Amino acid sequence: MKMPRDPQIWTDVDRYLEGLFTPPDPALTAALAAADAAGLPAIQVSATQGKLLYLLAKLAGARRILEIGTLAGYSALWMARALPKGGKLITLEADPRHAELAKENLKRAGLELVTEVRVGKALMTLPRLDGPFDLVFIDADKETYPEYLTWALKLTKRGSLIVADNVVRDGRIADPRHPDPRVAAVRRYHELVAAEPRLSATVLQTVGVKGYDGLSFAVVVA
Ligand code: SAH
Ligand code: DHB
Ligand code: MG
Repeated sequence: MKMPRDPQIWTDVDRYLEGLFTPPDPALTAALAAADAAGLPAIQVSATQGKLLYLLAKLAGARRILEIGTLAGYSALWMARALPKGGKLITLEADPRHAELAKENLKRAGLELVTEVRVGKALMTLPRLDGPFDLVFIDADKETYPEYLTWALKLTKRGSLIVADNVVRDGRIADPRHPDPRVAAVRRYHELVAAEPRLSATVLQTVGVKGYDGLSFAVVVA
């Protein structure tokens, strides 16, 4: 059965839930407005997903958070707000325009001292990082997810959480012969996570304002 990509009901429900669980927030609203004004694609996590990242960071007691793929800093803003005193979030972004805007958005939110935006392709900036991180959020180019997983494992410790976005993409990942290399790479990501003895993981399919997609959650258990 073929499903419409974005049934109105998914959006209606997300708007209702946002009204209850993510009340209007000046810094988040300003970040989205600035991203829109600068012509950035509106591909950031949804508000309810941002809240989930915030709650996971809180639950994990994350003092050090790493994000791969900043865009305008929307998800970074959610996660950085969960940091305890002395905590730090580092986010990696290839596009200097995105990075600049993210810095402005994080500054406007009063988070400039606890966040750092590193510009460059993540495979170039990852080797310069010192772990361990308590939470890693993978959300950059999908083709590189398998390599990002290798880096995430290097830069975490027992108890850390590795989250990855866009891991279902309209259900395309169910097709082992899908021609899109991003789909093949995300399938490879799932297979590597599943086969990694240091990880215990699951994946949730999601619907909402961002259509039909999914999030991967992997805890470093050894
Ligand atoms: N996490 C953000 C959305 C990220 S969108 C949020 O939810 O708010 C993906 C971002 O990854 C884009 O800004 C894109 O420029 C960046 N990106 C793409 N390839 C990259 C790479 N190789 N290294 C670092 N960033 C990359
Ligand atoms: C795209 C990237 C994302 O990280 C996302 O959440 C949605 C879409 C994209 O590249 O199309
Ligand atoms: Mg994403």
